[in-house]
Amino acid sequence: MNWKADWIHLPGQERDEAPAPGPYVRKAFVLESPPTKATARVTALGLYEVWINGRRVGDVQMAPGWTDYRTRVPAQEYDVTGFLVPGENVIGVKLGDGWYCGKMFVYDRRFYGDHPEFLFQLSMETAGDTEQLLASDATWKATEGPLLYSDIYDGEAYDARKELPGWNLPSFDDSAWKAVATRPVGKKPLIELAEHEPVRVIEERSPLDIDEVEPGRWIFDLGQNMVGRARIMVPGEEGRTITIRFAEMLNRDGTLYTENYRSAKSTDHYTCHGRGGFEQWEPVFTFHGFRYVELSGLPRDVQPDESWVTGVVLHNDIEPTGSFTCSNPLLNQLQSNIVWGQKGNFLEVPTDCPQRNERLGWTGDAQVFCPTASFNFDVLAFFHKWMKDVRDAQKENGLVPLVVPDGFGEGESPAWGDAVAIVPWEVYLRYGDMTILEDNHDAIRKWIAFQKNDSPDLVRADRGFGDWLQPYQENEDQLRGDTERSLIGTAYFAFTAGIAARVAGVLGKPREAAEMERLAADVRKAFTDAFWTNDGRLSSDTQTAYLLALAFDLLPEKHVPAAFQHLLRLINEADGHLRTGFVGTPLLAPTLTRFGREDLAYELLLKETYPGWLYSIRQGATTMWERWNSYSHSDGFGNAEMNSFNHYAYGAIGQWMYETVAGLEPDPEHPGYTHFFVSPQPGGGLDWARAELATARGTVASGWRFEEATLVMEAVVPECASATVVFPFGETEAILWQGRTVENVAFKYGERTALKTGPGSHTFMIKM
Ligand code: BGC
Repeated sequence: MNWKADWIHLPGQERDEAPAPGPYVRKAFVLESPPTKATARVTALGLYEVWINGRRVGDVQMAPGWTDYRTRVPAQEYDVTGFLVPGENVIGVKLGDGWYCGKMFVYDRRFYGDHPEFLFQLSMETAGDTEQLLASDATWKATEGPLLYSDIYDGEAYDARKELPGWNLPSFDDSAWKAVATRPVGKKPLIELAEHEPVRVIEERSPLDIDEVEPGRWIFDLGQNMVGRARIMVPGEEGRTITIRFAEMLNRDGTLYTENYRSAKSTDHYTCHGRGGFEQWEPVFTFHGFRYVELSGLPRDVQPDESWVTGVVLHNDIEPTGSFTCSNPLLNQLQSNIVWGQKGNFLEVPTDCPQRNERLGWTGDAQVFCPTASFNFDVLAFFHKWMKDVRDAQKENGLVPLVVPDGFGEGESPAWGDAVAIVPWEVYLRYGDMTILEDNHDAIRKWIAFQKNDSPDLVRADRGFGDWLQPYQENEDQLRGDTERSLIGTAYFAFTAGIAARVAGVLGKPREAAEMERLAADVRKAFTDAFWTNDGRLSSDTQTAYLLALAFDLLPEKHVPAAFQHLLRLINEADGHLRTGFVGTPLLAPTLTRFGREDLAYELLLKETYPGWLYSIRQGATTMWERWNSYSHSDGFGNAEMNSFNHYAYGAIGQWMYETVAGLEPDPEHPGYTHFFVSPQPGGGLDWARAELATARGTVASGWRFEEATLVMEAVVPECASATVVFPFGETEAILWQGRTVENVAFKYGERTALKTGPGSHTFMIKM
């Protein structure tokens, strides 16, 4: 992008350990006549909000967004044609620390820089075809104002007594403001218009309940664990400071449970101006993860009502595309929890959690959740953006870091770094978008080369996060699970080499595809040699080990039945429960289904005892939790060191709910639902299930319901698409389509009967 502007900032604002006030910046200028067209290009190192003549430009929150600012800074472009007037005009700007110089990466403040900077360029066309430019430069002015500080982890403080009435309007006296300091734009970092949907206010929620938990401490329950901010409305009294605290959960005594925020203070402060009546305030440069909002510091003897707190939900403005519903209310709640987990963690990057001193783009979490994410929302542009971040973060030697954007520098983990191959592949499969493969082809190759160079005998090192947070683990650290990490690493190496082969194939590189396929085969062999023992089992006798071997097709055919039997044995020994963490869990239901035991997959999914998906729902969850037992009514809270109540990773089960319970499954041979499968596997005592998805081609859907002794199946196929309908049971003469049996059109599909359909809304009746 060609900039004629300079970076500007308020001098003397270098942050140290303590945050500094958010600067207010302004520029007054005179126009003879309003332009016929005006376009503003805006960005900041830090966060910005901008006004022209008192009117807010755009509705983006947490702008300009987050990338690795050392390499790339996102910018926005706004059409501001109607904003300008003849005579004096004013640009007004508020800046915050944000990801740039606030706390980030668990420990650090000022990771990228030590004060916010602003960059602005307004091009104006007038009738006479002349172009005028107004750019940030040394003539702009800045000051400190009511925004005492803002920080993503810690929250925001605002003193309304320090407000500067009219500061972003003409005829304001800014003679006391300082001249800004400037810095040329230079070649690095690259400044680029952001192409994905920005963060916006998506919805507002009112409290369901208000409780005075201690004298003067009021807790508002929004009924849903959410991410965003609280807008407050309070009786104003000059100089009175209202403290706003947040929590995802309550302690038994009704007070806020905040231990799991760790060092994130997640607290806002508002000091009233007292100019009369109620005062309304909402922070601008922070966000919190919470269900409960606590107000304290209110005048005595007040009786708050619902209008005093509003929950403002923020996330990238991705379009909801999918729905999953069924006859089991607990599964519908699970679906809702998965969707809220996605909302809360799709805020500029796919994050692990949105509330504690972390909120980072953990690659492993993103990778396992990506398929589910692409059912619930249109995440095509979002993942394009994040994959660019991944490429920026990838090291010279191909290593893909643990978090993206990267702030740790060191470290690598299988199943985490593999996101570089899995995310583009899944996005391609689900959206049919080839550019995501083209863009990431090199990065995938580099990742494969890194793994190869790093593992001479093709067996990966004992490194990484293992089967993170596996329940009932014997391994002492209580985090990494009991599956050997080199087994996980080698399994993933084979898996992503296989993806690399498929990517090369799609991109029309048959030689490279063959080379990658050979490598994948060699790694599979190395896997079997290293981990399949003479007693006919894997050296790690864990559910996750067998799941990896089976799901990724790592073993020779002859060992497969034994491996599957071991998996069944281990599930049985666990009394029909899972014993899997972040790595094994997403593979459970699909693998059991593939080997004909969808009944067991349902059983696991529907278990209400620990550990299982419905356990948290029975404990009142409204989002996905980091641990299977982050909280229980009987034992209270898990270890607060790692106890997020908004962690989407285990929400990866959503994919199986869409694809197998409801039966809406993409076809890897025909990506983007040009051809797809309607292949439900009714079970689990459900009476009906249905999934619908808005694709680029139109709506696709799969649904089924039992009507007495008949299974009624539904398939919706849009124009220019086709579907293979696979019936869960029934011989051809028992299946009716448009009043006729399907003998003439049906074919055998494995053990089952199938047929092909074109566009339309189709109903099938299967007599039982
Ligand atoms: C995060 C996880 C992440 C993990 C890596 C945690 O702190 O919250 O979700 O994948 O670290 O081990």
